Amino acid sequence: MIHIDFLSSIYPLSAAKVVDIGAGDGTYARELARAGAQVTAIEIDEVKLEQLQANSHPNMQAMLGRAEAIPLADGSQDLACMFFSLHHVPEEVQEAALREITRVVKPGGRLHIVEPFPYGSMFDVVRMIEEETKVRRRSHALMRDLAQRDGFQLLEHKDYVLTRVFDDFDALLTKIVYSDQKRSNALPDVREEMQQVFDLVGETTPEGRAFHQPCAAYHFALNAAG
Ligand SMILES: C[S@@+](CC[C@H](N)C(=O)[O-])C[C@H]1O[C@@H](n2cnc3c(N)ncnc32)[C@H](O)[C@@H]1O
Repeated sequence: MIHIDFLSSIYPLSAAKVVDIGAGDGTYARELARAGAQVTAIEIDEVKLEQLQANSHPNMQAMLGRAEAIPLADGSQDLACMFFSLHHVPEEVQEAALREITRVVKPGGRLHIVEPFPYGSMFDVVRMIEEETKVRRRSHALMRDLAQRDGFQLLEHKDYVLTRVFDDFDALLTKIVYSDQKRSNALPDVREEMQQVFDLVGETTPEGRAFHQPCAAYHFALNAAG
């Protein structure tokens, strides 16, 4: 998993207390737990929370919660992670989410945010069901802005490409559409066109159809001077 490979190359995960905010079905929370971290996976969506709980790990607990109201004690975490979730947090509560992160992470602890750019073959397919250009641009602007703020010391920044492979179109729908009610409702109107884009831009590999998502990872130290 490229996200965790990069993170573990710059931060020692073993025994670290880590909150994964907007954990989805828990793909990365489990990777963090396997790497030895004590993980709390926070998810706003009850259906995804069930998936998290069904596929947990001994080092991992899953909780219903929101980035802007994290159900954890002050200074209780070494590291907060957001993998592809910042652009899903509504703009009007993003600053509240950042305040919550600085509250639950201990002084000198870390914040690791990875956000997808609004381009790439994975984006070409996703945008058929949900147009995210604006929110993704905004989240990248916010990460660049954070790097200039007091209390957020940018330690690492890396752009890389996340590649996801799906057996077929239905496997992609299962991963990115069926677990989301809004996207499921939108599917009948766009399904045919979406399948055409899948067939057109998906790279044929021995493992299945591959889709590329360029993204940026920002790794901050929080309130390091405090
Ligand atoms: C694109 S998914 C990413 C899931 C997972 N991190 C991954 O990379 O596979 C974004 C997730 O953020 C969650 N989310 C949306 N708004 C949120 C909020 N305010 N607080 C916490 N999670 C939120 C969504 O329910 C969704 O599971």
